[in-house]
Amino acid sequence: MSEILVAARDDIPEGGARIIEIGNLEIGVIRHEDAFYAYRNFCPHQGGPVCEGIRMAGVYDDVDPEGLFHGQKFDKADMHIVCPWHGYEYRLKDGVNVCDARLKLRKYEVTERDGNVYITV
Ligand code: FES
Repeated sequence: MSEILVAARDDIPEGGARIIEIGNLEIGVIRHEDAFYAYRNFCPHQGGPVCEGIRMAGVYDDVDPEGLFHGQKFDKADMHIVCPWHGYEYRLKDGVNVCDARLKLRKYEVTERDGNVYITV
């Protein structure tokens, strides 16, 4: 295992991502609400560049205690990464596919130190 410098934290803007290459491995480092998440830029569906996809809040059904449906709402505490190839969605916090938990992005540890962001590979 080795620690790789990704960038100065201020060089990755809020909501932004940085894709780095280590040999033939691509890793996306995503900043969201001042936290950093790192995943292999490879979708387990068919290999799409998942970290380059948009991020959007998960959608849930708003159903009251009597079972009455009031529509759907966004849950900003449950952000998803949407793969640009076929739209599979993965939870930003853990990389697990929202429909099939068997599909998971390869996650990497992120460390911040002295104003820089590192990943452990
Ligand atoms: S390759 Fe990502 S959804 Fe198909």
